[in-house]
Amino acid sequence: MHKNRPSRTAYKVALCIVTLGLKSGMEKILPPGIVDATEKLLVASGAATPTTVRWTHTQRMVSVYEAFDWMLPGQLEAFAHRKAFCERQVRDGIGEGATQVLVLGAGYDTLGWRLAPEFPGVNFFEIDHPATARLKAKGIKEMGQRDNLFLIAEDLGERKLVDVLKASEQWRRNGRTVIIAEGLVMYLPPEAVRELFGQCSEISAVGSRIAFSYIPTGSDGRPDVGRWTGLMLWLQKVVGEPWTWSIRPEELDLFLEESGWTNAPALAGTTAKHGVEFFSVATMLPTAGDSETL
Ligand SMILES: C[S@@+](CC[C@H](N)C(=O)[O-])C[C@H]1O[C@@H](n2cnc3c(N)ncnc32)[C@H](O)[C@@H]1O
Repeated sequence: MHKNRPSRTAYKVALCIVTLGLKSGMEKILPPGIVDATEKLLVASGAATPTTVRWTHTQRMVSVYEAFDWMLPGQLEAFAHRKAFCERQVRDGIGEGATQVLVLGAGYDTLGWRLAPEFPGVNFFEIDHPATARLKAKGIKEMGQRDNLFLIAEDLGERKLVDVLKASEQWRRNGRTVIIAEGLVMYLPPEAVRELFGQCSEISAVGSRIAFSYIPTGSDGRPDVGRWTGLMLWLQKVVGEPWTWSIRPEELDLFLEESGWTNAPALAGTTAKHGVEFFSVATMLPTAGDSETL
C-alpha cells in the first residue's frame, strides 16, 4: 500500500457502514451506534467532507452499491456482519476476563471509541499505518478522547508487533487479550501474515483470542472472490492495496497451530461465508508449562 496516503480500503469500509445504516434489515445486524459514530469520525478526521457523508447516507447510495453487487456478491451486507462478528468477539472475550483489546489495521473502525466508556477496566489499543492512524487520531480528539483508548501509528510491515507493544506503557504482557484483525490479512504478504499471527501469540496470555476475516484460496491458488476474481484482483492492485494472502479453510487449523493458536470454530458463531470472506476465531490454550487454566 502507499505509505504516505491514508488507506482507501479503510475509507471504503467506513462509507459502506454509513450507507448500510439505511439498508433495510441491517439495523438488526449493525452494532448499536456504529453508523452515527462512523459518520462523525469520517468528518472529524477530515477523511470525508460533510457533503460526502450526507450523500453516502442516502437511499440512492444503497441503490448504487446494490447495482455493483455483482462484482463481489453480498459484500456490502457482509461489512455489517463483519462488524457485528468482531464486536461479539470483543464482548464475549471481555465477558471471559479479557482486560485488553487490540485492533490491528483499525482504519476508521469505531469499536474502541464506542466500547471504551462501557468497559473502563479494559484497555483498548489500535494500530494502523501512520498515514491512516494520524487522521483517525485527529478525529478521535475532536469526538472526545477516551482514557482507555490508545491509538498507535505504526507500519507493522516495518516494526514487529512485539516491539511496538513493548513501547506502550499501558500494554500488559500477561493480560488476557482479544485481538481483532478485520479485513487486514488479505493485504499482507504471506510471510508477514505468518509472522503477525506468531507475534500475536507471543504477546498474548493464555485465554486470549484472535478474531479475523479472510478470503479463501481458489483452485488456481489465487484469492477466490467469485466469478469476477480477475477483475477484482486487478482493481485492488490499481488502488494500491492488492490482495496478497488467502488460505483454504481446510488448511486453517494447521496454519494457526504452527503460529501458536488453536482454531475455535465453536466460538465464531458462524461457518458461513459473508460476501467474499470467512470469519474465524482462534484461542491461546495453555501449554504443558502454564499453570493458568481456561
Ligand atoms: C480494509 S482496511 C480495514 C480497516 C478496518 N479493520 C475495518 O474493517 O474497518 C485495512 C487496514 O489495514 C491497515 N494496514 C494495512 N497494512 C498495514 C500495515 N503494514 N501496518 C499497519 N496497518 C496496516 C490499513 O491502513 C487499513 O486501515
